[in-house]
Amino acid sequence: MTRAHLDKQPQDVAAMFDDVAAKYDRTNDVLSLGQARLWRRAVADAVGAVAGQRILDLGAGTGTSSLPFLEAGADVVPCDFSIGMLTEGKNRHPELALTAGDATRLPFADESFDAVTISFALRNVQDHEAAMREMLRVTKPGGKVVICEFSTPTWTPFRTVYTEYLMRALPPVATKVSSNPEAYVYLAESIRSWPDQPALAAELQQAGWTKVAWRNLTGGIVALHRGFKAP
Ligand SMILES: C[S@@+](CC[C@H](N)C(=O)[O-])C[C@H]1O[C@@H](n2cnc3c(N)ncnc32)[C@H](O)[C@@H]1O
Repeated sequence: MTRAHLDKQPQDVAAMFDDVAAKYDRTNDVLSLGQARLWRRAVADAVGAVAGQRILDLGAGTGTSSLPFLEAGADVVPCDFSIGMLTEGKNRHPELALTAGDATRLPFADESFDAVTISFALRNVQDHEAAMREMLRVTKPGGKVVICEFSTPTWTPFRTVYTEYLMRALPPVATKVSSNPEAYVYLAESIRSWPDQPALAAELQQAGWTKVAWRNLTGGIVALHRGFKAP
């Protein structure tokens, strides 16, 4: 069993996702108490993909996060660096153009996507600021980025309960449903050390994105950040 640590060495992160690939989607549904489906819907609405657009879904894993774009008639490119997740995705969704690639060195030409989105993956990227710059590079002028990531609950009493209790409860629950419970220790730790909403927005601006804003989901357990590439 592989567990990534907070230094997020890329080979450890990829190996950890290779390990959890087979049960990844089911574990997500259980641990998020069904919220994962609502969060995916919110991402699809924020991206607002329409037929004919080219959308990059980065850190797409098994491709579940890419399906709403396919359903909208867009040309979606799910990209990930875990061969285990991509293989599982190919078995489940042969219709998806799953592509191997590292978020910090994307195998795509400049200005080749109308929108770039990344769900529950940017937190795992060792140099996530480099990934924000790469996302900008491959986006067309006027195009959009949407980042869906665990964040900081906004209501202080709830934040305390969430960080102190729920995050401690997560690994024992994961032991029952995941093929790699250690991966969920990493999940809890990586959420705690991730920038809060304003800090992530500032990093996006620093990377060159404009009109940056965010929206909290489920009281800030998850936040959607969006930005635009200047026309
Ligand atoms: C928690 S999964 C999210 C999968 C999917 N987006 C979803 O919402 O279900 C995170 C994914 O990010 C991928 N990932 C992490 N770091 C990456 C990197 N540097 N380049 C490409 N993919 C990466 C992992 O392999 C994993 O499949």
